[in-house]
Amino acid sequence: MLATTTTGYARCIKASKKIRWDIDRDVIRGRALDSSQDFLPRGLSLVDELPSLTDAERRFMSQIQGRTYANLFGVIERYINAKILELSRDHWFGDQLALEALVRFSDEELKHQELFRRIEQLAAAVMPPGYRLVADGNAIARVVLGKSTWAVLALTCHIEVFTLVHYKKSIAAEQVSDLWKDVFLHHWKEESQHAIIDELEWRRVDAGVTAAERDRGVDELIELVGAVDSVLQAQAQADSDYFIAHCDLDAAQQQAVRDVTLKAYRWQYIVSGVQEGSFVKLLSELVTSEQLGRITTALAPLM
Ligand SMILES: [Fe+2]
Ligand SMILES: [Fe+2]
Repeated sequence: MLATTTTGYARCIKASKKIRWDIDRDVIRGRALDSSQDFLPRGLSLVDELPSLTDAERRFMSQIQGRTYANLFGVIERYINAKILELSRDHWFGDQLALEALVRFSDEELKHQELFRRIEQLAAAVMPPGYRLVADGNAIARVVLGKSTWAVLALTCHIEVFTLVHYKKSIAAEQVSDLWKDVFLHHWKEESQHAIIDELEWRRVDAGVTAAERDRGVDELIELVGAVDSVLQAQAQADSDYFIAHCDLDAAQQQAVRDVTLKAYRWQYIVSGVQEGSFVKLLSELVTSEQLGRITTALAPLM
């Protein structure tokens, strides 16, 4: 087990060094976002579920959601980085490869947050005024980091797994803004290591908790998904308000926009990750069937 674990961290370090990229030199390259193109692909934005909108309106919705998608990653990565720095303490005087893998992970998440701030500026430059990011990274971090490490790593594993799924299944496969696609290509390259490290760390922490602590962790994971959903509801409302303010829609169309936006955000941040086989397989290995059933029942209203 130890040899396998050490090999896992070593592989992540090697891959991290090989694919390391720079925000300006490799990703932005002096480009602006192309406002004649979608940002978030339709497999994630679900804008095709709004048939009464014009093509231009559906594109605008994809751009709002794409702007929020980048912003929410920036927000979420605030707590992920803090947790990774905290976990690195466990390796200070132990496995130096694990320590290096976590330090690189943290460094990459800081870079990603900077990249997402840059994308917000580029989005603001080509979109009308009035957009609001209501989710606050520090406030979310305070809530998440108040839970046990087991629960925080479960949530993080879920997030970094769906990041990979979104890129492979939707972003790489669909016609969207070249710059927007490049941002998430480069993000995916580094997140591929993060997802492996999350699993290594989650298994390591899981091996050290009691059955009672794990059971409490399951309840906390459910609470965390509920907290994520509150953030999604608030941002979906802000983004729907912004969209409606810039489009001429009747009451039924406005309600459809609100419904589809919330459905899309739940699809992106909760459902698509839960439906991804690898996360559920890992979760099933770590929890009992009764605990898995508790999670499934709690998530059912969001699915
Ligand atoms: Fe990231
Ligand atoms: Fe990450």
